[in-house]
Amino acid sequence: MDGGKVSEKTANHKTVNRDNGGHNSQTPHSAGVSRRKLVKSALTLGISGAAGLTGLKAAAQPDRQPDPLITDIQDWNRYLGDGVDARPYGHPSPFEKNIVRRDVAWLTADSKSSVNFTPLHALDGIITPNGLCFERHHGGIAEIDPASHRLMINGLVDTPLVFTMEDILRFPRENRMYFLECAANTGMEWRGAQLNGCQYTHGMIHNVMYTGVPLKYLLAEAGVKTSGKWLLPEGADPSHMTRSIPLEKGLEDCLVAFKMNGEALRPEQGYPMRLVVPGWEGTMWVKWLRRIEVGDKPWHQREETSKYTDLLEDGTARRFTWEMDVKSVITNPSPQAPITHGRGQMVATGLAWSGHGKIKRVDVSVDGGRNWQHARLDGPSYSKSVHRFYYDFAWDGHPMMLQSRAIDEFGRVQPTKDQLRAARGVNSIYHNNSIQTWLVGKDGSIENVEVS
Ligand code: MTE
Ligand code: CO
Repeated sequence: MDGGKVSEKTANHKTVNRDNGGHNSQTPHSAGVSRRKLVKSALTLGISGAAGLTGLKAAAQPDRQPDPLITDIQDWNRYLGDGVDARPYGHPSPFEKNIVRRDVAWLTADSKSSVNFTPLHALDGIITPNGLCFERHHGGIAEIDPASHRLMINGLVDTPLVFTMEDILRFPRENRMYFLECAANTGMEWRGAQLNGCQYTHGMIHNVMYTGVPLKYLLAEAGVKTSGKWLLPEGADPSHMTRSIPLEKGLEDCLVAFKMNGEALRPEQGYPMRLVVPGWEGTMWVKWLRRIEVGDKPWHQREETSKYTDLLEDGTARRFTWEMDVKSVITNPSPQAPITHGRGQMVATGLAWSGHGKIKRVDVSVDGGRNWQHARLDGPSYSKSVHRFYYDFAWDGHPMMLQSRAIDEFGRVQPTKDQLRAARGVNSIYHNNSIQTWLVGKDGSIENVEVS
């Protein structure tokens, strides 16, 4: 894993039976972990909180020899460390060097990868650090001097305008927290469990606090004609990324953003400015934004016809499926973050989000969806932003089939894989928001599986 790539395709498509806990035996209830045991473990969980924490206290005061790491003075406690001039721009500790964006070699045809993934398994809270936000480029990263960057608004407007960066900074600005999810996130999992790690199955998402100018102010400055109904944002990169966006969305909550998490956008995220299209699929968030045309109908560009449409079972395709539906995933433990401490008190955590609004509730199952418990939502709850959830419980050491299921404020419930396939078939790449299962073995190792 250290090379930053998943080198081979895991074609196991592993399916496990809910009734035998992932054991190979075909006879339900015959294996070490029976359905009854899984149900029992789920029932114990309801009362495990306080007892589990007592267990932790005992573990912290073991009956063993004095620990030299607490009794002896260590090098870092003895010698003078670096001064402030050593790190004018801070980096993570070298001990965190494996927590990086990673790509999957076979996903990109040529040697230059065009997508990498956020290491969700190692993150907490709701903010994605700038250096770990996944990247998706259709023509590589445009390196742009902001002094040479312009944004044009043209088409069905009273006054076509060209803004400099300085002009943009004179409009009232706002700070808002949103997730960006690529429509292709979890796209490799339609036909079966494939990639072993939530970084790869779910890592085409990041959640950032944007500072930007509401697009409605810039449109008002140009004066949209009454015939103007659609917007076509265009990128300054060689892919000239363009997507048709209904004018109402542009006026409702879109931002022309220039800061992420307080500092300038990173070049890979569209420096010096990008369009923020809250709750809608990532392709519409045009980076290196250079032009917005106002028109009276959609343009039917490549990225909204041959790409980013959802091929259904009957051969027809759904189009203009902009909103990212309610979804969640347990990020830790997960295949890249196995359980190493053995049985007893532990924390499972994950992310839940909905392109429609806020998350109301997240349920967690340890038995493949047979029994569900409420998870604890923690941290700020913003519309169209990720929500952090925790499930604090005592693991009895038996195999688990960990799942999470999100419900948004409008009552939309995250579907199972079977429900999603019944509605949409398996031909699509995009908009897979189904429930993910992690199979936890007795030894704490974890695998991407499906339950039948
Ligand atoms: N904008 C431009 N100009 N060029 C691109 O290639 N990729 C799109 C979108 N905006 C793209 C773009 C896609 S498919 C996604 S998912 C998001 O940007 C990814 O944003 P990120 O790189 O900040 O994660
Ligand atoms: Co995308």
